[in-house]
Amino acid sequence: MRYGYFDDEHREYVITQPDTPLPWINYLGCEAYFGLISNTAGGYSFYRDARLRRITRYRYNNVPLDYGGRYIYVRDNDTEAFWSPSWQPTRCPVEDYACHHGLGYTTIRSTYEGIEAQTRYFVPLGEDLEIWQLTLTNRRQGKADLSIFSAIEFCLWDAEDDAANFQRNFNTGEVEVEDGVMYHKTGYRERRDHFAFFACSEELAGFDTQRDVFLGPYRGWECPAAVERGCSFNSVAVGWAPMGSHHLEVALQPGETREIIFVLGYHENPPDQKFDPLGSQRINKQTVHPIIDRYLEVPEVEAAFDALHRFWTNLLNTLQIEVQDVHTSRMVNIWNPYQCVVAFNLSRSASLFESGMGRGIGFRDSNQDLLGCVHMLPRRGRERILELAATQLASGGAYHQFQPLTRRGNDKIGTGFNDDPLWLILSTAAYLNETGDWGILDEPAVYENAPGTEKPLYDHLQRSFRYTLDRLGPHGLPLIGRADWNDCLNLNTFSATPDESFQSARTKDGKVAESVFIAGLFVLAARELAAIAQWRDLNEAAQECLEAAERMEAAVHEHGWDGEWFLRAYDDSGGKVGSRENEEGRIFIEPQGMCVLAGLGLADGRAEKALASVGGLLTTPHGIMLHHPPYTRYYLHLGEISSYPPGYKENAGIFCHTNPWIMIAEAMLGHGDLAHDYYSRINPSVREAISDVHRCEPYVYAQMIAGRDATTPGEAKNSWLTGTAAWNYVAITQWILGIWPTHAGLRIAPIIPSLWSGFKARRVFRGVTYEISVERAGKGNLVSLKVDGQPIEGDVVPLPSTGQCEVVVEATIT
Ligand code: GLC
Ligand code: GLC
Repeated sequence: MRYGYFDDEHREYVITQPDTPLPWINYLGCEAYFGLISNTAGGYSFYRDARLRRITRYRYNNVPLDYGGRYIYVRDNDTEAFWSPSWQPTRCPVEDYACHHGLGYTTIRSTYEGIEAQTRYFVPLGEDLEIWQLTLTNRRQGKADLSIFSAIEFCLWDAEDDAANFQRNFNTGEVEVEDGVMYHKTGYRERRDHFAFFACSEELAGFDTQRDVFLGPYRGWECPAAVERGCSFNSVAVGWAPMGSHHLEVALQPGETREIIFVLGYHENPPDQKFDPLGSQRINKQTVHPIIDRYLEVPEVEAAFDALHRFWTNLLNTLQIEVQDVHTSRMVNIWNPYQCVVAFNLSRSASLFESGMGRGIGFRDSNQDLLGCVHMLPRRGRERILELAATQLASGGAYHQFQPLTRRGNDKIGTGFNDDPLWLILSTAAYLNETGDWGILDEPAVYENAPGTEKPLYDHLQRSFRYTLDRLGPHGLPLIGRADWNDCLNLNTFSATPDESFQSARTKDGKVAESVFIAGLFVLAARELAAIAQWRDLNEAAQECLEAAERMEAAVHEHGWDGEWFLRAYDDSGGKVGSRENEEGRIFIEPQGMCVLAGLGLADGRAEKALASVGGLLTTPHGIMLHHPPYTRYYLHLGEISSYPPGYKENAGIFCHTNPWIMIAEAMLGHGDLAHDYYSRINPSVREAISDVHRCEPYVYAQMIAGRDATTPGEAKNSWLTGTAAWNYVAITQWILGIWPTHAGLRIAPIIPSLWSGFKARRVFRGVTYEISVERAGKGNLVSLKVDGQPIEGDVVPLPSTGQCEVVVEATIT
């Protein structure tokens, strides 16, 4: 069952039924001001940090679902009927409802009682504000006398306090109303220099800023007292729950259209110019007036929207393809890179599944997110790499997360996830391949955020590499620490205390439990580091990396192979995890993917064997499960992985992040059909047809799809902010379509399904546009290339000599 459709031409997903199984959201903003918006206008906004600078309120985990948003009410002053054009919160039976989620904007439209209303929401580039552009049209025979009310709830304070310390917030929120603009300030009298504002392009009939006055006692958003009676109370909030609501009266002749603009934003004043007049407690609004005035003008708003549109077109144009499979095409051209950018921006902080309070920017997560968007955002990629490096510890380890506002490592979650540092090598390698900006290796970055400890990025990479070698276990395999990629495989925790965190509680000294996954990751990273060293003529260093990789490979062959697949780990007592000797959790996906990706077992048939085992034991119609069989009870020595009911999350769920590792591994073995088959199983566009089962958005990947043993197999959870986006993008574009950035040039090495006759692609790489056409002339994967009509040796198209900005590549597969 579907709830809408893809409009590929306009790069939108159009939802035609408001009561989707879950709120289907989109993101506004891509720099500092961000917002989540659902298909019924639910969601909230924040400036940089969803916890410390949340601007509007949202109620997570509440009933009804998706409460709190960017609401507009339309009231017919003659009949006194009122409704929300976005369906929520009044849930009146609107007609012609359509929500268009596009790249960085959302438009929601409907008609009720002959009044058509459409609102376009977006954040202009370079601004810390959002625009709601409301267009009203009277489709009736007669005149319409309408009242329009806007409504948002302010909460510019630590979002955690909303649940934990509201006795304080009930007294701190203040509001100023001036010329129809509502200004919300909390703590402005003391340490804050920032405030929020909410403005409207029309003259007001009234306003409200105290939520409980606007709603009336014991009423919800579906029936506010002010809207019901058709008149605001002009309340000015001091404490309690400040809100912003404009009331305007609009008379429309038959056929008449009116455009109304609302601007909601965040502003910071220079500390010495906070107040006006000086010495008063009133906000100095002179600094923000020009911004507000500008965006209340329709031509400015249209221009800002066009600029946003061009921005996204430009980003996506870095790689566009034409393939016969529509699902591959729309994911590669539109939604997958879009999701990659969103995940890169927000890490795992704010979605419908991440509250914006708990997690900061993840070290491991962000390095992987970068893989999916460094070709579109190389400058931001560079900044992020250096930011991450600065939270590395002198030991080479890393803070697992850092806070976006302070950029400091997060002490609460701490360090000791032993895979973390290696991902920095992979992201840097990807950045170098894409940009050729070798200078980044010489950029200084501190350790542990401590001034004076600056060392070049290259030093950070070497310490990442050494960190693993300094922590080898009894089998010569890397010690796992608190956890490796799988946060829930906690081999050193042994937690029997209900309220303890599985990741930060630690009872064992960690000198025994080893991870075969980290071993694979290490080999991959060591070879990347060797390549980097070689390009810099550091031959000795390169040699050292290669030898270490070889030793690790030998250790995996000797102690990390279980006969039919790679072992997952050794536990604290030296017992095997992910082995045929185990009753539950016999085989895990991660080492099969990562070891093959690192090239292990390619020469001796073990890779083939491991992947066949994955195919036979882990694969379901909805994707590949994390391990199998699931753990049916809690295992003290395994930790959180066995805390979930079978089939969910890390306990044998389909953890989508790992599936592309298998796609890549299959592509490495030349199995194009299988690689693409795996790709399609979790491709949200393919799954659109079963939206009632999948339940999450059909245009983005979810972190997890319930596995075979779940009570709801195929049901997705935790959409949007997941490493799945980046890795799927890498798998499909670099391995299956085979378009690779490398130091020597663009490599073209497709491993496509046998039924594809070929495909076309346009890739911008280092300022040069490559027009690529691939034609299948035989059943194999052998590629021969012609560049600008001339055959070349090998599969790497060298960078053209300066001046040439277009290159035509014809590839033939036989
Ligand atoms: C979550 C975490 C990620 C981890 C994964 C598996 O997605 O963000 O860091 O690798 O879970 O546990
Ligand atoms: C939980 C989740 C896991 C996530 C971790 C982050 O353990 O199951 O997916 O990575 O929390 O703290």
